Amino acid sequence: MAKTLDYVCTACGARHAKWSGRCDSCGAWNTIQEEKPLSSGPGGKTLGAVRGTPLTLVDLATAETPPPRTSSGIAELDRVLGGGLVPASAILVGGDPGIGKSTLLLQAAASFARGGLDAVYVSGEEASAQVRMRAQRLGLADAPVRLAAATNLRDILTTLEAEKPDIAIIDSVQTMWSDQVDSAPGSVAQVRAAAHELTSFAKRNNMAVVLVGHVTKEGQIAGPRVVEHMVDTVLYFEGERGHQFRILRAVKNRFGPADEIGVFEMTGGGLSEVANPSALFLSDREDPAPGSAVFAGIEGTRPVLCEFQALVAPTPHSQPRRSTVGWDGGRLAMILAVLESRCGIPFAGLDVYLNVAGGLRISDPAADLAVACALLSAREDAALPPQAVVFGEISLSGALRPAGQTENRLKEAQKLGFTSAIVPARSKTGPGTDLTLRPHADLAALVGDMFGA
Ligand code: TYD
Ligand code: MG
Repeated sequence: MAKTLDYVCTACGARHAKWSGRCDSCGAWNTIQEEKPLSSGPGGKTLGAVRGTPLTLVDLATAETPPPRTSSGIAELDRVLGGGLVPASAILVGGDPGIGKSTLLLQAAASFARGGLDAVYVSGEEASAQVRMRAQRLGLADAPVRLAAATNLRDILTTLEAEKPDIAIIDSVQTMWSDQVDSAPGSVAQVRAAAHELTSFAKRNNMAVVLVGHVTKEGQIAGPRVVEHMVDTVLYFEGERGHQFRILRAVKNRFGPADEIGVFEMTGGGLSEVANPSALFLSDREDPAPGSAVFAGIEGTRPVLCEFQALVAPTPHSQPRRSTVGWDGGRLAMILAVLESRCGIPFAGLDVYLNVAGGLRISDPAADLAVACALLSAREDAALPPQAVVFGEISLSGALRPAGQTENRLKEAQKLGFTSAIVPARSKTGPGTDLTLRPHADLAALVGDMFGA
């Protein structure tokens, strides 16, 4: 008989046959816990059909046309959802505690309710009176949202069954507990059971459900990753402490593009939408200084300009420091290696710090060239040409590869007053942009042209 896997990582949900200090799957320490099996199997009916009767795609297509999406009334949220809320879908909103998840979802619930949907907001963390106070502070007290403070899954499902709302917000899934499961609230088994019950209820009853999940640092409480596979859409709410703006990022979406972002600003009156993020991210930029490069990136479907800042300084340590904020450390090591071995520019004995200004996190591969330019500019103590944007991918050979959506990047740069672009050779540009292009076939040629090395 196959061995049962009784240990589970509370950070990523991976199952293990035995306990260990570190999860092989996600690398987190001290997150593996023993899991008790469910005392009863998962119940529920099958979707839209008599149990066990398969349907053909053609039958399904004639039976139902795709229902229209409902706008949340918050354009940045609609964008991340792929154009609005899909009925009967399950959405997970993850994020650090205090980042603004409850604020965003209360605003969304109010907006849906004002738009005519029947919205229920279930808080397992705050009393109804506290939620109402928050709503008052946000100017939403008159919105017809129904509030409930509950944590027992059976109570919640009974209420939802009776009320039949169009959308239910569960804040947070980690506070919910099922009396069917023999473990403490917040454990992987409880969080999974709650997410499973709520999403299958939502599918059966044509209700959309939004699950809030706190990203947890310690291993006692399961994180939102353990339920990612059960829902249709996974959104993460990100932001740096000390910065006002917040980014809602779609990391999985069965009904729209993943990687789409929505940008918000946390104000005294709640979250407000930021329609032009490039202007915001570049707002406190000073005159071009050595070490600074403006990257014309694409986040999801929209171009976003931001600034990479690099600092290169002699190290007092035997092992030089490599530190990045907002970008992948492994990718930085790769760019440094390419600069050393393909362009003959050593970084040994130098500490390297790289930062994306404003707290944005960049994953667009076209940022390679902007990072290389910021590093070179810092190392050579020479500013890049003023009013220039940079983008392009760097391969291990040092060759520069054109980035996708070059035209959109250039248009956004032009809109914000930039006049030239440092790009890979053969970048495809369309009509309609007057930026001066500075194309280079490989990194060594760029170094020769711009830094005279
Ligand atoms: P909250 O939505 O409670 O975070 P989460 O649900 O993700 O834990 O947001 C809490 C923070 O947001 C808190 O530090 C205060 C701040 N905030 C504002 O700045 N303005 C506001 O209008 C509100 C409601 C909260
Ligand atoms: Mg909250």
